[in-house]
Amino acid sequence: MPKDKPAFSQTPRFASLVPKPWVQDLYPNDAKQPPPGLLNESSDNLATTDIPAERYWSHEWHKMEVDHVWRKTWQVTCRIEEIPNDGDFVVYDIVDDSVIVVRSSTGDIKAFTNSCLHRGTSIVDGAGSVEEFRCPYHGWSYNLDGQLTSLPAAWDFSHLNIDELQLPTVQVDTWAGFVFINLDPECSTLDEYLGVLPDHLNDFNIDNRYKAVHVSKVVPCNWKVAQEAFIEGYHVAETHFEKTLEGKIAASGAAVSNYDTSIQYDYWKPHVTRMNMLGGIPSGYISDQLKTEQAIVDAYFARKPGDTVTLAKGQTARSLIAEHNRKIWGKSHNVDLSAASDAEMIDQIQYTLFPNFTVWPTIVAPLVYRFRPDGDDPNHSIFEIWMLLPIADDGSHPTPMTELRLDEDQLWSSIPELGGYGPVIDQDTPNFPRIQKGLKASKKGAVSLANYQENRIRVFHDTLEMYLFGPDSSPQ
Ligand code: FES
Ligand SMILES: [Fe+2]
Repeated sequence: MPKDKPAFSQTPRFASLVPKPWVQDLYPNDAKQPPPGLLNESSDNLATTDIPAERYWSHEWHKMEVDHVWRKTWQVTCRIEEIPNDGDFVVYDIVDDSVIVVRSSTGDIKAFTNSCLHRGTSIVDGAGSVEEFRCPYHGWSYNLDGQLTSLPAAWDFSHLNIDELQLPTVQVDTWAGFVFINLDPECSTLDEYLGVLPDHLNDFNIDNRYKAVHVSKVVPCNWKVAQEAFIEGYHVAETHFEKTLEGKIAASGAAVSNYDTSIQYDYWKPHVTRMNMLGGIPSGYISDQLKTEQAIVDAYFARKPGDTVTLAKGQTARSLIAEHNRKIWGKSHNVDLSAASDAEMIDQIQYTLFPNFTVWPTIVAPLVYRFRPDGDDPNHSIFEIWMLLPIADDGSHPTPMTELRLDEDQLWSSIPELGGYGPVIDQDTPNFPRIQKGLKASKKGAVSLANYQENRIRVFHDTLEMYLFGPDSSPQ
């Protein structure tokens, strides 16, 4: 670690630990107020016990997750705009299960087990558009409702009731433009499962976005290791040190973003957690160098030569930058953002839905993360990044991007569509194999968590235990 790392010297706030400026103290000064959900605080003291390390690499634990999590929870498969027409489909693979999500002949979205009723062949892969599903092995065909419609040499199958052969259906539902499935026929409704999520996010108009970017990579770590690397800000000052703190004020917008110190963390058990990272205020590590609102504005615009911006009387840096972004983003996406809150135009906010889905709802940081085991391997996972950009006011949008799978050694920054996120994620990614290796080598055999800054990881594990061992297992 560089020796000249700035000292941490902010006033404690939450549980004598969290520094000012505090998120909820800043929102009232915004020119355009945030959606009501962001004004909530929902966290409390949680259990402090260590998390066993073996749950990140043990095959036995992985098998329990398959049976009690992957086969029991609602999971995002794709976006609605990816399957606009009858016959458009996406395959969602989770460990050894495989599901076809399709726009059926009636325009509804349906989901079926992706396994031929003859000898079990996986019928389709990836995504595409078909008039019918035709198994590539012997040619059994199924219509878009999953019913068997033809099979060669039907005379030889007189022992089967061909008219009734139907691909098993899988529970499917949609919310905010996302298509979810649940492999458990007895599952609760998606609405029930989502908890506070719709209340908090409906104002963000996420159903009026399209998937502009979809990049993925198989990474050498358990899926939870990868996910947990992105749901806390505690690692930012170390893992992203160069980007956020060194050479920072003039060079990096992250220097005028509160991505490392006073981040607000909340949870709504069992399925939803959140992190609010505000922009337009200095990192707690360098706030002594950005003492005025104008200094923050100057730092922000120093990386945009030609833009000279002066604050109006009483205007905050947050509101000025938000207004600037409203114009820039509105123009580039042909959308009227005049009513969008400052928070939507400047902040980085994440909501995670158990088990593996994180959505960033603001317009300026419109990411989605999804994490899954890579097949049946607890030591490798598929890490996906989507970006959901606004659909233009005239309803048009470019064709959604189909998944681009990176090689293991390929940098995220090699994908221009990821913009500034690519280099940042390239700083996170090398941690993955180190964590996985260290967890296996650990003599402590356990992970310790920060009480507040890592409370989303704590809640995740509480919920994981609830699914694996029943509701009484989870500390409140
Ligand atoms: S396995 Fe599908 S047609 Fe034979
Ligand atoms: Fe990171």
